[in-house]
Amino acid sequence: MKIIRQMDPWIDREEEKEVIKVMRSGWITEADETKRFEKMIADFTGSKYCSVVTNGTVSLYLALKALGIGEGDEVIVPDMTMVASPNAVIMANAKPVFVDIEKDTLCLSLDEVEKKISKKTKAIMIVALNGRAPDMHRALKIAKDNNLFVVEDAAQALGSYFHGKHLGTFGDIGSFSFSTPKVITTAQGGALVTDRKDLYDKIIRLKDFGRVNRSSQNHDEIGFNFKFTDILAAIGVVQMKKLPTRLNRKKEMYNSYKQELKNLKQIQFIATDLSQTSPWFMDIFVSDPKALQGFLKNKNIGTRLFYPAIHTTEPYKSENQYKNSLWASEHGLWLPSSAFLTDSDIMHICKEIKSFYEKN
Ligand SMILES: Cc1ncc(COP(=O)(O)O)c(C=O)c1O
Repeated sequence: MKIIRQMDPWIDREEEKEVIKVMRSGWITEADETKRFEKMIADFTGSKYCSVVTNGTVSLYLALKALGIGEGDEVIVPDMTMVASPNAVIMANAKPVFVDIEKDTLCLSLDEVEKKISKKTKAIMIVALNGRAPDMHRALKIAKDNNLFVVEDAAQALGSYFHGKHLGTFGDIGSFSFSTPKVITTAQGGALVTDRKDLYDKIIRLKDFGRVNRSSQNHDEIGFNFKFTDILAAIGVVQMKKLPTRLNRKKEMYNSYKQELKNLKQIQFIATDLSQTSPWFMDIFVSDPKALQGFLKNKNIGTRLFYPAIHTTEPYKSENQYKNSLWASEHGLWLPSSAFLTDSDIMHICKEIKSFYEKN
């Protein structure tokens, strides 16, 4: 029986060819190919500047560092996100302050954000979970009125927009990830986008040991090594060319799942405007996702449970109530989402889901 994984990277001969070219060029670390990849991301998202780094956790950390966030500062973070979002705040020596999410976008509730702003708050980290967004105009107004920075964790939002503007480009700095399950991948990788030259310059220095300029051994501040490589960039350039096709396919897939499962009252989809959101993962809500997951696993169909609500995880355990986040974590399931799945794969998956609910 064919094995269908929840997600698979999609890399083929074209990427292979370009990687070999770079390997034979005599220059494999960050250089021209990286610049090409960065320009493609900047152009695609409509940002003035882009810098690529080793992964999407480091990019969040660098965003916070570039904004001068550190010891004694608080950053507001949604309670439903991949754990890298609050971890990056901890890496920067600041304190993540969690807020509940909105049930209809799975993104942080702006009403809750307003309640959690304190004298120590320096930034709001908006996570565009699965390419959805809160009301970004209201988010920016709250930030402006309270003199806060906005860092967008758009790791899952390449190809997604709010009112036609690419997510990740609203705030001071936006962050993307190219880890293997993402819509495009470089195996590991991350990107920062910004329209502010001062922040871009700061990021460039911080990711390269704090060097004053590239060939210099002068460091006027402490920096690190979060540079990219041209080998990975060669993969990224090819993947970016394939991005539009993949985004369209993800939208088609979301529609197909929705259409096929529409008569199952046990399954709930979130109302999703596909002209703005390109769902990265195909998300559904059911009463018992673990039971459905177990059933599908026996049929060689992979799924993924939603993230745990952050406040229930060991490092961040708290008695505070985040009821929408808890609900999402207890009911959400990600169905197979690789952009290369065929229509008949999706029909097959939906047939198995229907058979589960006929029996249960
Ligand atoms: C919302 C979110 N933030 C941050 C990250 C971290 O990205 P990376 O895995 O590239 O470090 C991820 C990726 O998994 C993510 O989904």
